[in-house]
Amino acid sequence: MITFDFKTYMNQELSMDSDEKEVLIQKLLHDPMAGFINHVISEEEIEEIKKVATQIKETSEVLLVIGIGGSFMGSYALKNMFLSPFETPETEVIYLGYNLSSVYLSEVLDYIGERDVSVNVISKSGTTMEIYLTYSFIKNELKKKYSQEELQKRIIITTDSEKGRLRQEVTQEGYASFSIPSDIGGRYSLMSAAHLLPLAVMNLDIDSLLIGYKEGLQLMDQAYQYASLRIKLFYQNKLLENFSVYEPSLYYYTEWIKQLLAESEGKDKKGIFPISTVNTRDLHSLGQFIQEGNPILFETVIRILGGKDIEIENKSLNKMNQIVAESVCAAHYAGHTPSIIISLEKLDMKHIGSLSAFFMLAAVFSSYLFEVDPFNQPGVEAYKKEVRKNLGENKIDLSF
Ligand code: PA5
Repeated sequence: MITFDFKTYMNQELSMDSDEKEVLIQKLLHDPMAGFINHVISEEEIEEIKKVATQIKETSEVLLVIGIGGSFMGSYALKNMFLSPFETPETEVIYLGYNLSSVYLSEVLDYIGERDVSVNVISKSGTTMEIYLTYSFIKNELKKKYSQEELQKRIIITTDSEKGRLRQEVTQEGYASFSIPSDIGGRYSLMSAAHLLPLAVMNLDIDSLLIGYKEGLQLMDQAYQYASLRIKLFYQNKLLENFSVYEPSLYYYTEWIKQLLAESEGKDKKGIFPISTVNTRDLHSLGQFIQEGNPILFETVIRILGGKDIEIENKSLNKMNQIVAESVCAAHYAGHTPSIIISLEKLDMKHIGSLSAFFMLAAVFSSYLFEVDPFNQPGVEAYKKEVRKNLGENKIDLSF
């Protein structure tokens, strides 16, 4: 179960304007990019994903996932949430393509060594520079080791069903592929093969994720309340939202939320800038600012109530963590930083599925309330255009 506390540490009246809520819901349901709610992935596709994941696990000690932005952050966040950093799984999943660092790429290559590898390239557009370059490099490396026939078993491309360079690659080279539906944007694609294939290779329970996600899509009232509260706070000069967690494994999930919200609503000089803190670590650093600094922020605290617990001096460590979380909210509230609290009964795939659906709904409702399009990213396109121009000026001709 997920519970929402919009009141205890918040000095605002909650709006539940059912007319406005209904307008937002209808707008979403009729939005041409509403695939994330209108046609959730089928059981058949889930089965196909599991089949390919099994093949990868049988043939490979490493799966390289090449993706960036909404094409990687979801599965990357869940990997960091549910796999212990101290265990090496049978098929290790390593992410590439989210930077242009020669150091990182070389280190990964050295680390893989002679191990058998599969690659999942994920790009909806098939035109993203980082993906093009990284894929080109890795494919070249793999060609030194594997025959074309072998490559056809080891390269899996996840992209648009019809358009783009990567789709052409599938046709030309005969690689296996999955499609990202045209009406599901990158950051709304958690329940697509883009994320579910790497998660299935990690042996994470994608069926439970799907069950939770479907349940989470019912959280319309809560998503509307949260979105309208955020907008109210924004117009009271609360311009930053700090996503605060008390489990370090949630850190990359806050990165996923940050991308979802910032890329959806940060347009037309509007939007709330998302930041995050991992406590109790950051209470000893950023906490000072949150308590007494410029009062431009509010917090959304994600708490995990149950789960593994250990006792120190006959006292529950979980309980102490909860007491600290509650105390921090009270102290920050007294220091002019209000908090919304979202509590998960426990941290598992089902709860994360629900929470993710909730945040997707909230990102769309917030964007609609800001009167911006949640599904485009013109600012990202602007930088890409500039990069292309400067590459051209430097006589670097890439055909992506
Ligand atoms: O949410 C989004 O749409 C973006 O973050 C994209 O996922 C990101 O730019 C990567 O795009 P693509 O999947 O086309 O390579």
